Amino acid sequence: MKALVLAGGFATRLRPLSCTRPKALFPVVNKPLLEWTFERLGKHNIKEVIMAVNHQTEIAVRAQRIPKHALRIMYSRDPPKKPLGTGGPIKKAEKLIGHGSSFLVLNGDIFADVDYTRLLEIHRKTKATATIALCKVDDPSRFGVAKLAKDNRILRFVEKPPPEKEPSKLINAGVYAFSPEIFEYIPENQTVSTEREIFPELVKEKKLYGYVHRDLWMDIGKPEEYLEINRILLSRTKEPQRHRTSLGSQIREPAAIGKATVIGKRSIIGPNTVLGHNITVGDNVRIQDSVIFDGTEIDDSAQIQNAIIGGHVKVGKRANIPKGCILGDYVKIRDDVSLAEGVTICPAKEISESVATARNICC
Ligand code: GTP
Repeated sequence: MKALVLAGGFATRLRPLSCTRPKALFPVVNKPLLEWTFERLGKHNIKEVIMAVNHQTEIAVRAQRIPKHALRIMYSRDPPKKPLGTGGPIKKAEKLIGHGSSFLVLNGDIFADVDYTRLLEIHRKTKATATIALCKVDDPSRFGVAKLAKDNRILRFVEKPPPEKEPSKLINAGVYAFSPEIFEYIPENQTVSTEREIFPELVKEKKLYGYVHRDLWMDIGKPEEYLEINRILLSRTKEPQRHRTSLGSQIREPAAIGKATVIGKRSIIGPNTVLGHNITVGDNVRIQDSVIFDGTEIDDSAQIQNAIIGGHVKVGKRANIPKGCILGDYVKIRDDVSLAEGVTICPAKEISESVATARNICC
């Protein structure tokens, strides 16, 4: 059984963190999002995974050396300077996928405990061309929304309907089962949106079905959602504490601390905080509701709250990083700098003066 993972998007909503890494490699409780997906695929007896990537993503994913969980990993690359969208990469991978059996397609940027085995079973039973995993949400307006018949056939599929106009609260969870005849619907070497071009066509032909997924599901397209999935998983899993703490420091659960991370005296970490690997935290530091990527240094008496700090960042003494701030990789915040809520800073920028209003600071 094979799965195609769509991972060649540009993750514009997660800038500046996505300037230097694809969404599929964002750490979620200290494990790349893609590793969570590989683990889940392995458990459901999937044997081969095709990564639908662009050139840069392929380099980054290969370099990360994610444990493969007994999967055979292959790569199908979009043509240079021509992103194929969400549908084009499926056609591009036709030879690697083959026509032998139904297969899975997953958006690489969602965290979803979907029962792939059940999804494929239901897909085969109905003889659909495509079966979409659907999830119930309160506000479906920024997703593809499906109206289901009693037999789980999709009667309507509307991409991002205006508020109050949505046909139901069931949204596209970004996990699909396809039969090989799907290849006939996608033109070769073209940018195609599965959601806008292929699904409406399948609805007309009565070949699109839904499978309602009721377990954990989270799209990590936006920074708030990225923090939220970390929070949810922290409260579900108990990470082994491998860090070194000094006198009087406190870890307030739930929190996860990566390998070789060192925490100084009287610092308080957590709750709802993930510190990556090889991080150095000075004395009297306060960090809560935040995620900090590998290799970052946080100097004495700094305060970080509800923020995402990239890798290899340096946060100076007494610096204040409040709610909604996002610091790209290799950013340097000088001593005593205070940021306003919602400031985002592009990779490798050095900030030596306080910032009073929310804005994006780039080169
Ligand atoms: P935003 O720019 O923030 O909307 O992110 P995105 O384009 O990366 O995500 P979107 O939700 O539009 O895409 C859903 C999934 O399809 C993600 O896992 C993307 O990585 C993937 N994807 C989107 N566009 C392409 C593409 O052109 N080629 C490939 N191979 N994958 C894509």
